[in-house]
Amino acid sequence: MNVSPDETPNRLKLFVDTVGCQMNILDSELVIAKLRAQGYELTTDPLLADTILFNTCSVRQHAEDKIYSALGRVKKIKQRRPNVAIGVLGCMAQKDQDEILKRAPFVDIVVGPGQLSKVPELLEKARAEKKPQMAVSKARYGGSKLEIVESFEEFDPIREQAMRMSPYQAFVRIMMGCDKFCTYCVVPATRGPEQSRDPLDIIEETKLLVDQGVSEITLLGQTVNSYKYTTTDGRQWRLSDLLLALDGIPDLRRIKFITSFPKDMTDDLLQAVRDIPKVFRYIHVPAQSGCDEMLKRMKRLYTVAQYDEMMARIHETIPGCAVSSDFIVGFCGESEEAFEKTVRLVERSRFKNSFIFKYSPRRGTKAHDLYPDDIPEETKKRRNNDLLAVQNAISMEDNLALVGNTFEVLVEGPSKSFQGDVDTATGPVQLTGRTMTDRICIFDGNPRLIGSYMNVKVVSVTGVSLFSEVVTDRVSHVKPAQWSLPVIS
Ligand code: SAH
Ligand code: SF4
Ligand code: F3S
Repeated sequence: MNVSPDETPNRLKLFVDTVGCQMNILDSELVIAKLRAQGYELTTDPLLADTILFNTCSVRQHAEDKIYSALGRVKKIKQRRPNVAIGVLGCMAQKDQDEILKRAPFVDIVVGPGQLSKVPELLEKARAEKKPQMAVSKARYGGSKLEIVESFEEFDPIREQAMRMSPYQAFVRIMMGCDKFCTYCVVPATRGPEQSRDPLDIIEETKLLVDQGVSEITLLGQTVNSYKYTTTDGRQWRLSDLLLALDGIPDLRRIKFITSFPKDMTDDLLQAVRDIPKVFRYIHVPAQSGCDEMLKRMKRLYTVAQYDEMMARIHETIPGCAVSSDFIVGFCGESEEAFEKTVRLVERSRFKNSFIFKYSPRRGTKAHDLYPDDIPEETKKRRNNDLLAVQNAISMEDNLALVGNTFEVLVEGPSKSFQGDVDTATGPVQLTGRTMTDRICIFDGNPRLIGSYMNVKVVSVTGVSLFSEVVTDRVSHVKPAQWSLPVIS
């Protein structure tokens, strides 16, 4: 839920609820900025809103269920105040289209991720014509390649400091869509064809963000290390070239990139991570399974041996690099032996952390059409818990080895457990920041430290956090900026 109240009477009040991945968080930021430019203002309270937008995710059934039940609640608001406009944006809008209007006929706009720039005009039209408006892209096989690409419009226009969760950190989209077509995954259908953005636009956008006070950026792409672009002068850009160019922006201090695809982990990229101090020594590169048969069914395009070889290259090239992964348990036909192979992979890979998901069949994907969802929910749950336990034990062990070490962190904000208001707090509060290997540190400090870089020493750990103490008063401030968007769900 992205909210920033700025209560001026008579402006249209906007409430936005965001679920899903970082792409969606960025999309919401851009939609909000565009609507603010048209005179809307954000509210934290859906009951006060004139416009309620849901930016949705379709990656698993659970994410969709959450939105449909939220729509059920919003129906009551609409019954009491028929002028309230309700919008469903993002991946579920692209996937379900008319079905959303069938299940929730009170919805006013349905807008896919490729049409988000049209949200203001569609809202206006829906209000004027009192009729639902829908804008979605063509289906992946619904026309020529060019027609389909054109139907997924690029939308990276207005970057507004006040619209981000933190004034010091920002996402920058470098790629749209995905062409890998893993058999379980809805993303190529909802986000469209893979398209890399012009590096010169990315550099310009990053400079603008840095001028606004940002010192840490996260480059986004579904397969971010597959980035490639040929500029008009014939120069071919890879992610490593882009990192080098971004390194040249003086006040930019940190660069992260997510998510990588194992098969595209080239040596030039690993060397760039090793050689450019601004780049996080952290790579998120999902394995999904440790069993060749499953990987083949998933159409992941690599074998377990190739994944192991990639891990060895990462650690050889970048000493101390942290790696994290995603796994799907209970995929169609996953035997106990197949699952055990995944456990072995997690044990030998020693990931910093792993995101583990129970397989959720998605309509329109190959796996949904070809393979029965034959692993019982109970088994999926058990495998999920078992794999998580193995990962947590490794994270705990590796974190324990960090006790006594000192790391530089960017102080991001109050920790989740802090309940008060950072602007009025007088004494120290519990703060969080991340190391260059993406580890979360929690420490007590004055709220004025938010946005600065400082050294902390680890005193105790859990599998997910490093409890630390500030070791120096030498604080390196970046640029003054206002803390403005504290809430997200
Ligand atoms: N582009 C990224 C992430 C895509 S979605 C990548 O390729 O790694 C994020 C994660 O959701 C995936 O890595 C996968 O682990 C999980 N996921 C995707 N589809 C799923 C499904 N149908 N059921 C369960 N988990 C799924
Ligand atoms: Fe989905 Fe695979 Fe593309 Fe990732 S690489 S977004 S899992 S199809
Ligand atoms: Fe979900 Fe779409 Fe992201 S399906 S994970 S919001 S790309």
